[in-house]
Amino acid sequence: MIKVAVCGALGRMGSTVGRMVNESSDLELVGGIDVGAGSLFGIEVAESGRIDEFFGKVKPDVVIDFTTASAAVANAKAAAAHKAALVVGTTGLSADQRAGMERVIVGNVPAVISSNFSIGVNIFWELVRQAARMLSEYDIEVIEAHHRYKKDAPSGTAKTILQILDEEAGEREKMFGREGMTERGREIGVHVIRGGDIVGDHAVLFSGNFETIKLSHRAYDRSVFAQGALKAARWVVGKSPGIYGMGDVLELESVRP
Ligand SMILES: NC(=O)c1ccc[n+]([C@@H]2O[C@H](COP(=O)([O-])OP(=O)(O)OC[C@H]3O[C@@H](n4cnc5c(N)ncnc54)[C@H](O)[C@@H]3O)[C@@H](O)[C@H]2O)c1
Repeated sequence: MIKVAVCGALGRMGSTVGRMVNESSDLELVGGIDVGAGSLFGIEVAESGRIDEFFGKVKPDVVIDFTTASAAVANAKAAAAHKAALVVGTTGLSADQRAGMERVIVGNVPAVISSNFSIGVNIFWELVRQAARMLSEYDIEVIEAHHRYKKDAPSGTAKTILQILDEEAGEREKMFGREGMTERGREIGVHVIRGGDIVGDHAVLFSGNFETIKLSHRAYDRSVFAQGALKAARWVVGKSPGIYGMGDVLELESVRP
């Protein structure tokens, strides 16, 4: 059995991951970490200030993190100190936070980091990559929608889409929404919707004269992200130290972390 600890265990994603680990036959939920203590399916969730002591006690093989940008680096540091592999789904990290995350991982433990663990989104990214390569002269717009509680905008998934578009269609200015007298140039328009309980919608429009190609993905339930995170957890234990993406887990050629 692979021993799994979940950071953000009482949150929307963490509790979904915890439930699915608990239901699996090859993974064992050994504990959780959250801001306050609690329990998840009868398993102890320790308060974040006790993370070091708690990891020392439950000895996870892998730590899955779905918390906040400000917490994720410290959690990764604690996991690495206990030689646990990492699966990081937390988004919205600043460049400094991302660099801090890389420092604690590289040469130390294996980690899968992805802004989206859904298998469908990873395939969707591949399709966007192919389309961008062939439609680099078209006007491109990115639209994403999430639930009212999502903290970061645009989503990590949308930022990965923008990175792919830059790589394949040439770097362009990003315009976050439009207002007033705007004239379309070579920019990529980025549009963010927040409302209700939308799990996660992403669309990329490639528009030329008289035609538009729209590629889109809709997640109906956050269990699709949790399922991918579990797949990554099974895969990452025992790998060489370093940072991997879901593309490595799924053996896709071109999706980077
Ligand atoms: N990569 C993906 O596939 C994917 C999918 C969905 C969400 N996300 C990301 O995962 C993160 C969590 O999303 P959510 O919807 O579950 O949010 P949420 O607010 O429901 O849950 C976050 C949890 O983290 C806890 N937390 C905060 N600081 C902590 C700390 N220091 N230690 C431990 N726990 C701490 C909070 O108390 C909360 O319970 C966000 O960054 C979101 O964008 C990623």
